[in-house]
Amino acid sequence: MVIVGIVPFFTFGLGTWQLKRLKWKIDLIDELEEKLELPPLNFPSKINLSVIPEFVFRKVVVKGRWDHEHTMIFSPRVREGVHGVHVVTPLIRENGSTILVDRGFVSNEKLANLAQHQTDEEVGILGMLRTSQPKNSFTPDNKPEKGEWYWTDVDAMAEYAGGEKAGVQPVYVEQIFGGHAGEASSLLDRGVPVGRAPTVDLRNSHLSYVITWFSLSALTAAMFGRMLLNRRRAPGRKMPRFT
Ligand SMILES: *[C@@H]1O[C@H](CO)[C@@H](O)[C@H](O)[C@H]1NC(C)=O
Ligand SMILES: *[C@@H]1O[C@H](CO)[C@@H](O)[C@H](O)[C@H]1NC(C)=O
Repeated sequence: MVIVGIVPFFTFGLGTWQLKRLKWKIDLIDELEEKLELPPLNFPSKINLSVIPEFVFRKVVVKGRWDHEHTMIFSPRVREGVHGVHVVTPLIRENGSTILVDRGFVSNEKLANLAQHQTDEEVGILGMLRTSQPKNSFTPDNKPEKGEWYWTDVDAMAEYAGGEKAGVQPVYVEQIFGGHAGEASSLLDRGVPVGRAPTVDLRNSHLSYVITWFSLSALTAAMFGRMLLNRRRAPGRKMPRFT
């Protein structure tokens, strides 16, 4: 009885806590969306790594040549229901450090065509500055020596691309694709990587937790109330009567 009486309060507390987390998350997403609206940054030739957290989700423009030999293929990835991979290639900046660029999605079917579209020309990229994505307990470990990548571990990627001695900095940019759907599907058909839309894609599952905890709280409170009533009504029980 006591336990059933505690559950509604306990779940209510959890609901309130998730409500606070929800507000925090919404504020964070707002703040990042504002950052994304700011004009693109130009990276200096050597990037100060300690200021990167401040600039996450800022747009950046970078110029350089691809280091195709160190391309990393991240799988499995899904785009609009199609299974495929993301292609990350180091970009060697003239007179500057090499950084890592997620060029975007290629379907499994067209992955074999990727090499046909390699260019050694200088390219200009508009992207979004990001950091390592946390892996969850289902994400396998990356196996760089086998060319198997599952989650963006920026330090390990920079190491794979040659590391500090080769002038590679652990700086990770996701290329932005600003074209319309028709252009995207033509690129996808040819197996050219298609970048991402410039949006803040943080997971926000707090609202569903809020709803779950408050519903549980209401449900268990109702159950408890019913139990109290039933006990009071049950005949022959030694219950104090208040009538
Ligand atoms: C990098 O940025 C930090 C914080 O702004 C600063 O303290 C530090 O001196 C900078 N380092 C270099 C090498 O400029
Ligand atoms: C890179 O350095 C060379 C030699 O110092 C210079 O001629 C060239 O203009 C520089 N390129 C850029 C993009 O700054």
